[in-house]
Amino acid sequence: MSISAEQAQVLLNAAQAAAENAYAPYSDFPVGAALLTTNGAILTGVNVENASFGLTLCAERTALVKAISEGHRDFQAIAVWASRRPHGSVTPCGACRQVMVEFLLPQTPVVLTDESNGQVRILSMTELLPEAFGPAIQR
Ligand code: THU
Repeated sequence: MSISAEQAQVLLNAAQAAAENAYAPYSDFPVGAALLTTNGAILTGVNVENASFGLTLCAERTALVKAISEGHRDFQAIAVWASRRPHGSVTPCGACRQVMVEFLLPQTPVVLTDESNGQVRILSMTELLPEAFGPAIQR
């Protein structure tokens, strides 16, 4: 499975636009994610932090939960955009990778970029989480 450079850029633009709504007062690290469904719909999500820190939701999980709750099940790709401060780059955290494995296929492209250098990386889900404990069910 792959997506064109144009599709990747469209998704990244959606993720970047979504990041405007990030709630990240503690980290000052707004993140946006955008999922592309097999039907061509785009569902976005942002990080939603919490004063307790540990209850923070990452952008990737927010996007997935929004999409699933709206009835979407099949996805072509996900893009993640992060602002530069303070981390400098972004890849999904371990918790998000496990949740992503539940709904994305092993070859699903994960498009990543951040403000610091504008470089786009595309990794497959299986590269991000090899030997995953995945779902045993057929959706
Ligand atoms: N964060 C995301 O939303 N996605 C990632 O891929 C990396 C981390 C958020 C969580 C937290 O709000 C902030 O970035 C700092 O870790």
